[in-house]
Amino acid sequence: MVRTILHYPDERLRQVGKKVDKVTKEIQALVDDMAETMYAAPGVGLAATQIGEAVAIFVIDIAEADAPSDLRVFINPEIVERADEITWTEGCLSFPGVTEDVDRAAKVKVKAMDRQGKAFELDAEGLLAVAIQHELDHLNGVLMIDHLGPLKKRLVHRKMQKRQDAQAL
Ligand code: NI
Repeated sequence: MVRTILHYPDERLRQVGKKVDKVTKEIQALVDDMAETMYAAPGVGLAATQIGEAVAIFVIDIAEADAPSDLRVFINPEIVERADEITWTEGCLSFPGVTEDVDRAAKVKVKAMDRQGKAFELDAEGLLAVAIQHELDHLNGVLMIDHLGPLKKRLVHRKMQKRQDAQAL
């Protein structure tokens, strides 16, 4: 089922995703909803907190539009190594129409569980590394706007505020 994606400044985006004790059928159903919602948007990543679910799960698919899908599911993700730096022009499904440069680690090693509850480790770089850091931020209630300097932060905040006002009509 496609869920509603929350937009900044919705306070629920500040919730922290709680660790999943056990990958149950309900958790798998949530993962499936998240994937469906991400593809429908469309986006390359989605965190559970973006649909108002405060659990530590995100999904990513960075495959090109004309390539087969490559869904990656991260449950209880943790970055255990970071190396080098990269500046990436990021967008976010919770900030429609906004793209901003964000400084990230260029390479990360992440530990997580997959949809079956199986633990895995992954070395990522480039877009995948950026997406992992962006989505993990979401699970800590951290948003891309938090990475911007004061002036840009204000501009993005006002843009999103205006958007919200317009939709309220
Ligand atoms: Ni995002």
